[in-house]
Amino acid sequence: MLIEDNFSLKNYHTFRMEVRTQMMTRITEIEALNEVYQSARYQSLKKLILGGGSNVLFTRNFLGMILRMEISGIEVVKEDDQSMIVSFGAGENWHQSVLWAVNQGLGGIENLALIPGTIGAAPMQNIGAYGVEIKDVFHSLEAYEIETGEVVKFYHEDCKFGYRYSVFKSSHKNKYVITKVNLKLSKKPEYNITYGNIKSTLEQMGVEELSPQVISQAVMNIRQSKLPDPMVIGNAGSFFKNPIIENEYFDALRAAFEDIPGYRLDGKFTKVPAAWLIDQCGWKGYRDGDIGVHDKQALVLVNHGKGQGQEILMLSQRIQESVYKKFGVEIDPEVNIIS
Ligand code: FAD
Ligand code: EPU
Repeated sequence: MLIEDNFSLKNYHTFRMEVRTQMMTRITEIEALNEVYQSARYQSLKKLILGGGSNVLFTRNFLGMILRMEISGIEVVKEDDQSMIVSFGAGENWHQSVLWAVNQGLGGIENLALIPGTIGAAPMQNIGAYGVEIKDVFHSLEAYEIETGEVVKFYHEDCKFGYRYSVFKSSHKNKYVITKVNLKLSKKPEYNITYGNIKSTLEQMGVEELSPQVISQAVMNIRQSKLPDPMVIGNAGSFFKNPIIENEYFDALRAAFEDIPGYRLDGKFTKVPAAWLIDQCGWKGYRDGDIGVHDKQALVLVNHGKGQGQEILMLSQRIQESVYKKFGVEIDPEVNIIS
């Protein structure tokens, strides 16, 4: 196992700040996890699993060992005339996996095109976009149990998926390393084009017949028009989750702010776009030195070059405070803050 010391993470996370880790190792097979977790030598070291680094904020140099997930492989494990269960190594790139699926005409993840990061991290927060979440196609996953060194299988119901939520973000946090994800993709897909402007984008593209490929292309076009490319401007996508509030409180807000958007969920709750709340507080396009708020999407905090993690963290707290002051709504980070 190769361990690199005092390793720069600048190209390993999408905020792209210059931060260093005491040690870095690449995990290409489960055996390497045994070496790290079961040997006395590394027992006391703080450890962090890193995929594509597109949902993390490093607030300082990392004192410990980064385990970069690079387990590869795409394999069809089961197939009938309706669907295919495909197994993806945790280190496979998510977007490349979407392209792999759509190029074979397999449906289910086309709306999730262009989400950065790895397959292994996708179930962590149940990634979602344009009306689809990974839970909609999730079959099962394999994970290395840190305490015992065993590989454990989790099925759909075990993961308790919710909006930007799974057990791996809560009760099972830091207990498992996801090594493989199995998705059930459809040979006879039912398309979901009702969300946002997918339909109008398909029309503009002159599309006559729907396919996973054209839908993924429409989603890519929409995303490219509003989200910053991390290779150009450092960011981690939405910095906050959209808050879910009680219907009564939402109705009171709507009485005071008649334009406030909200999506009724089943039962007693309404989901409110945090981007709107932040935008209304005047943050969109804000810049202080090299950090700021994206000028096309107020939910995205950005590093224009030499910004620091601590500065982004402080800005995020100021934004939280101003949203709370104006609307009485708490917004929680979606990004994993690493200290
Ligand atoms: P990382 O950032 O490397 O890790 C995220 C967390 O998961 C960390 O806590 C890490 O320790 C843990 N982790 C990573 N891999 C494993 C593993 N194998 N086992 C156990 N723990 C692990 N997200 C959405 O849901 N929808 C979007 O539309 C979306 N758009 C985005 C757009 C941009 C421009 C960017 C930069 C990000 C966006 N994101 C979006 C967020 C991000 O892409 C996803 O959360 C993605 O799944 C993170 O993958 P990653 O490999 O980069 O994870
Ligand atoms: N809006 C504003 N100002 C802005 C941007 C948006 O007022 O600057 C308002 C508009 O009313 C708009 C609404 O917010 O209709 C929603 O905006 P958008 O459609 O861009 O979606 P979002 O809620 O901000 C969520 C996800 C994204 C995902 C998109 C598309 C969260 C936290 N974010 O963003 O996921 O790509 O929907 O489905 O749920 C991510 O998680 O990193 C991410 C980018």
